Amino acid sequence: MAGRAKITVIGGGNVGASCALWAASKELGDIVVIDIPDAEDRVKGKMLDLTQCGPIERFDANITGTSDYGATTGSDVVVITAGIPRKPGMSRDDLIATNVKIVRSVSENVAKHAPDAVVIVVSNPLDAMVYTAWKATGFPTHRIVGQAGCLDVARYRAFIAMELGVSVEDISALLLGGHGDDMVPLPRYTSVHGVPVAQLLSEEKITACVERAKVGGGEIVKLMGTSAYYAPASGVVQMVEAIVKDKKRILPCAAYCESEYGVGGKGAGYFVGVPCVLGASGVERIIEIDLDANEKSLMDQSVSHVKELVEVVRKMSPDLA
Ligand code: LAC
Repeated sequence: MAGRAKITVIGGGNVGASCALWAASKELGDIVVIDIPDAEDRVKGKMLDLTQCGPIERFDANITGTSDYGATTGSDVVVITAGIPRKPGMSRDDLIATNVKIVRSVSENVAKHAPDAVVIVVSNPLDAMVYTAWKATGFPTHRIVGQAGCLDVARYRAFIAMELGVSVEDISALLLGGHGDDMVPLPRYTSVHGVPVAQLLSEEKITACVERAKVGGGEIVKLMGTSAYYAPASGVVQMVEAIVKDKKRILPCAAYCESEYGVGGKGAGYFVGVPCVLGASGVERIIEIDLDANEKSLMDQSVSHVKELVEVVRKMSPDLA
């Protein structure tokens, strides 16, 4: 990409605005945040407010809030956050009927105005919304990816660090599966500055961190009355950075798998959380790791949940099948 990268965020709510904030503070490129015409003044105001942080935080970026998709032309990355968030008592799956329509319509606009972008989907239920964006844009699978693993593994790493009283920076971990309460954090692939976590924490404590991470989104919904946004947006921007700087980072993302992890067959794959190499062209490689029988069975359960959600999308919108 010549000059500055261009990053578009669709949806100027809590997640979208926080994505813009993290991306600006890391000076990742120019930023456009799109919202619906009724919310245009609000998103214009938020982005003007963010622009005015530049002299203090020392970033140079053109930051625009608008409802005009014309402003997204030439985007290198598009982040889709549009849709309704959870309220207490709701699962991510309860959002599907409303969000499939929203994600579909914004994806069609992305395909029209930013046909070369890598698309990162954040809307929930995540794994089904990534599928929806893929079908509605018609983009190749390597340019459609879901943010979930970066957030989920960050929660898990934070809990392990809290338990051990060490820096979060020294916790390295893997996580697989869908972005539901059946996601699969992997203690066997969790280390503390290279030391397997099982040498430092009891099995009971590790299990408690795993279980807390799995329902980490719900814990916040219960406290705040709405979905989390700082950490979800931080997870997105970790991916944006890997793409715009062509870093080839290995991050857990919802990527299209066919034979990988036994997810599906040729031409019959699904987007599920797996470790990926993320670079300028999007998902450049999926990394397959060995799973023991228990890990494999947890992954299979999570994948079948993802398949059920995609089935709901296909039933609602047969032309997306
Ligand atoms: C969460 C939502 C964003 O996990 O899915 O907090």
